[in-house]
Amino acid sequence: MINIITKAEETHKLTKEEIITLLESSEFEKDLFEAADRTRNKYVGDEVHLRGLIEFSNICKQNCLYCGLRRDNKKVNRYRLEVEEILRLAHNASLLGYKTIVLQSGEDAYYNVEILEKIIKGIHDLGVAITLSIGERSEEEYKKFREAGADRFLVRIETTDVELYHKLNPGMDFDNRVECLKNLRKYNYEVGTGCMVGLPGQTLQSLAEDILFFKEIGADMIGIGPFIPNPDTPLREEKGGEFIMALKVMAITRLLLPDINLPATTAMEALNPNGRFIALQSGANVIMPNVSEGEYREFYQLYPGKPIPTVAADTYRQNLANRLSGIGRYISDEAGTSKAHIRKNA
Ligand code: 5AD
Ligand code: SF4
Repeated sequence: MINIITKAEETHKLTKEEIITLLESSEFEKDLFEAADRTRNKYVGDEVHLRGLIEFSNICKQNCLYCGLRRDNKKVNRYRLEVEEILRLAHNASLLGYKTIVLQSGEDAYYNVEILEKIIKGIHDLGVAITLSIGERSEEEYKKFREAGADRFLVRIETTDVELYHKLNPGMDFDNRVECLKNLRKYNYEVGTGCMVGLPGQTLQSLAEDILFFKEIGADMIGIGPFIPNPDTPLREEKGGEFIMALKVMAITRLLLPDINLPATTAMEALNPNGRFIALQSGANVIMPNVSEGEYREFYQLYPGKPIPTVAADTYRQNLANRLSGIGRYISDEAGTSKAHIRKNA
């Protein structure tokens, strides 16, 4: 076991069987997390990149079985932010020091190319990097968003178990999702993907395949979090993922893709009050604080237990800086372009 961890740390390569061995054993977990932490330090350093997250619409045309925003969930108060409001939030975040804005929404066709171009150009003019997380769009649209100034794009593959993917995402097509990732690569976005851990019917073998998929497509960023059953979805009775298993998938991902950006996800914090800090010490180097305001913020509920800070955004940031320095880390003052992306473009 320890040999596998050493091999991963030295060569950044493992076979599927070796990954499965790591995932199924509860021995040497500490060694795994420490190896991922060293690899993080060696390749991307002690700086932590903050991304200001704006959840600008919770309207979604898709019906993913796990997600609280699915179209059949009638209990959600749906909202859409206007262009001016989105630009105001982005401006405030940039004044606070955020160097990247992440625009996240359900798959909401209201935001057509014209509207999104306005938003992207407006944020680009603030001099910050822009990440889109708005789901599947045509190749032409991805091209136009890039031309308008979008730098990065997140589309989690969710699971590489094709049968499970189609069961959980009715009306969606796995091959099309992979095609989206390829199109994003084509237009030289920094490409983020990722998966959930502990989905009903998901095996350790398929988690190992998820990690190998991340490596194969050459991802620049990977978001990993436990699946958390939402009471307003068809998966309400399911068991949900375990914190430690999600942490292990994350740590192995760091070992195999040493120079990517790896966020300590909010879902990790939903299962463990200290989850994001544990993640930061097990391979992660990014945090995505929510910079939205207003009562609609609580309406963006993918899963229950989403932590909503009670302090103002500036206090939140200061508290975060203090806690980070307690673990020998600090907030980066750079845009935080993925080193994997820089390497590929060199
Ligand atoms: N538990 C954990 N993560 C979820 N997501 C959606 N629903 C859930 C849930 N119930 C994740 C998906 C999606 C991302 C935005 O949130 O991976 O891509
Ligand atoms: Fe919509 Fe994304 Fe939720 Fe699926 S996971 S229902 S695409 S918001």
